[in-house]
Amino acid sequence: MAEKILIVDDDIDSLKLIGLMLQRQGYDIVAANNGAQAFSKATSDRPDLIILDVMMPDMDGYEICRRLRANPVTQGIPIIMFTAKTLIDDKVAGFEAGADDYLTKPTHPAELASRVKAILSRSAAQRRTTGEGGTLTALVGVKGGVGVSTLAANVAAVLNLKEPSILADIRPGQGSLGMFLNMPKSVGMSNLLARNPNEITARLVEQELVAHTSGLRTLLSSARPQEMLTPVNADAASAVLKALRSMARHVIVDLGAGLARHTMRLVKEADQVVLVVEPYRYSLNMARDTLKEIESVGVGRGRISVVIVTRVASSSQVPWQEAEQILGHEMLGIIGPAPELAFQAIEAGFPIVLFQPASIATTQINKLTEELTARVRAVAS
Ligand SMILES: Nc1ncnc2c1ncn2[C@@H]1O[C@H](COP(=O)(O)OP(=O)(O)OP(=O)(O)O)[C@@H](O)[C@H]1O
Ligand SMILES: [Mg+2]
Repeated sequence: MAEKILIVDDDIDSLKLIGLMLQRQGYDIVAANNGAQAFSKATSDRPDLIILDVMMPDMDGYEICRRLRANPVTQGIPIIMFTAKTLIDDKVAGFEAGADDYLTKPTHPAELASRVKAILSRSAAQRRTTGEGGTLTALVGVKGGVGVSTLAANVAAVLNLKEPSILADIRPGQGSLGMFLNMPKSVGMSNLLARNPNEITARLVEQELVAHTSGLRTLLSSARPQEMLTPVNADAASAVLKALRSMARHVIVDLGAGLARHTMRLVKEADQVVLVVEPYRYSLNMARDTLKEIESVGVGRGRISVVIVTRVASSSQVPWQEAEQILGHEMLGIIGPAPELAFQAIEAGFPIVLFQPASIATTQINKLTEELTARVRAVAS
């Protein structure tokens, strides 16, 4: 896969020139000619490197650099400042703003190419030492409609604020996440699952990824009912998830309700399985049996987390301690009722945590995500 470079320069000729030079070296090029464009492309295209001009009319390169560094989504992207300013003070200002390297105009194509190469290989090496391949968290509902998709989208959105994450939906024919995120036409997962598992490569999977407005990358299933007639090919699903792990720090997958054949396979491959239940006696009883089934295929307790979602407050609600007793398993956390907010967020096409960051639901989801991450780390180490 070609590495992607974002070039930010207000001078179109300069953009074209550098763009062409780097394209010849085999890189994918994305261009922006002001600060606003730079931010939106840095979040949506997730370049591997940014080359940043300093003197621009609206916002200068130093300021753009500082803001990129302050944003959790873009803070890890290496930046080369590229400018006609040659004074030592200018360089110092560039490094203070967070640049990784500094290159003065005019530059020789060979020098540009070698700096770009050096920076890219350094950041690739860093990624390797911090762990090759992202984590995989699989969400399963004890039954339909308990809030799995909502939780999956929100956990992924929280994670993505800190580290590049991908939200995947393995529910061909029932892909409600596309509706929730106002991306009904992105059906990349359906496309991939229809293929022969041997054909599924990282490149193919990457081509099907679609970024949500928030920058969260997604691989979603369609809501075409006829797709439910074909069972999910577990090998294909497994190949897709493996490819996704190579592209992000965290992959969150919505496996929907119940234990289908492919679900039993995929839970074995996940670092963490999240079982979503309701706080009612019958639902908790079903959850207890589901937990046993998941454990029976070799997924240890440390790899299973139970989350209670209370969609409506009710007097039949089972208290926390009793719920743990019924389950024979401790609970990771609880999400309380937020019916209005849940619907409003869907109408807006955003996960709750982004739609209303100050809500109680957001606090609960943040806390849950933190604990989930800790558990995933404990499994990984
Ligand atoms: N904490 C909550 N409070 C109130 N309503 C919620 C909450 N979480 C989700 N909902 C709402 O509950 C409904 C079902 O949620 P969701 O689609 O996420 O469940 P699901 O388990 O994925 O369902 P399915 O089995 O159909 O895929 C949605 O309308 C959603 O907006
Ligand atoms: Mg769902």
